[in-house]
This record gives sequence, structure tokens and C-alpha cells, in this order.
Amino acid sequence: MTYTVELVVPDDCGTGMDGQSVDVDVRDGEYVLWAARNAGVWLPADCQQGWCCRCAGYLLSGSLDQSDSRRYYDTDRDAELHLLCTATPESDCRILVCQYEAMLDERASHDLPPGRSKR
Ligand code: FES
Repeated sequence: MTYTVELVVPDDCGTGMDGQSVDVDVRDGEYVLWAARNAGVWLPADCQQGWCCRCAGYLLSGSLDQSDSRRYYDTDRDAELHLLCTATPESDCRILVCQYEAMLDERASHDLPPGRSKR
């Protein structure tokens, strides 16, 4: 099974694809970050374990499994924020990428790390 994930890249993302939308094929069980990088969209990331939030994206439509992330909260899901380094699609998706700052704000608003220490 392969899903189509549309990556909506903001103007200030620094990916080389800024301001564009890119469709990426993501295999069942594959992480969105790596599928994107294999397709030439170099999304930001750091730990690649679902811990630091550097790779955060906002889910515009569809469904992502986040169970491989080391630190992911129900409040993140409620806010439609996901960690793309450890997110696998459960359907076709649209994702606004480069949402690190939004993720820090969301975590801080719930007094959760790492937003709490960075805000
Ligand atoms: S790169 Fe650290 S949480 Fe994804």
C-alpha cells in the first residue's frame, strides 16, 4: 500500500521547495520525513526519534500514526500537530510542513516539553 502525501511548504522553510506543494508517495509503514527526503524535499529534522519537535507539521487532512514517537501527546494530536520523522500515513494526507515554532507554542501552552523550556 502506498499513500499520497501532499507537502505544503511555507515560503520561509529553507527546503529548496519553499512556496510549493509537493506530492510524495509514502509506503505503508514508512516515515513521512524519509519519503519526503527521498523525493528531494529536505525537511528540517534533528533527533529523528520523535523527541525534539524540529520536524513538526500541521495535518490539514488525512490521518497519521504517531506511535513510534518517543514523546507525543494527545494535546499534539488535538492540535493536528505531528512529528514527521516518526509519522506513518494511515490515509492520503495534506501536511503543512516546517511547524516547529507552532509545536513549541502548543507544547508550552500545556506546560509540556520542550516548549516549556524554550518559551
Ligand atoms: S526530528 Fe526530532 S522529533 Fe522529529
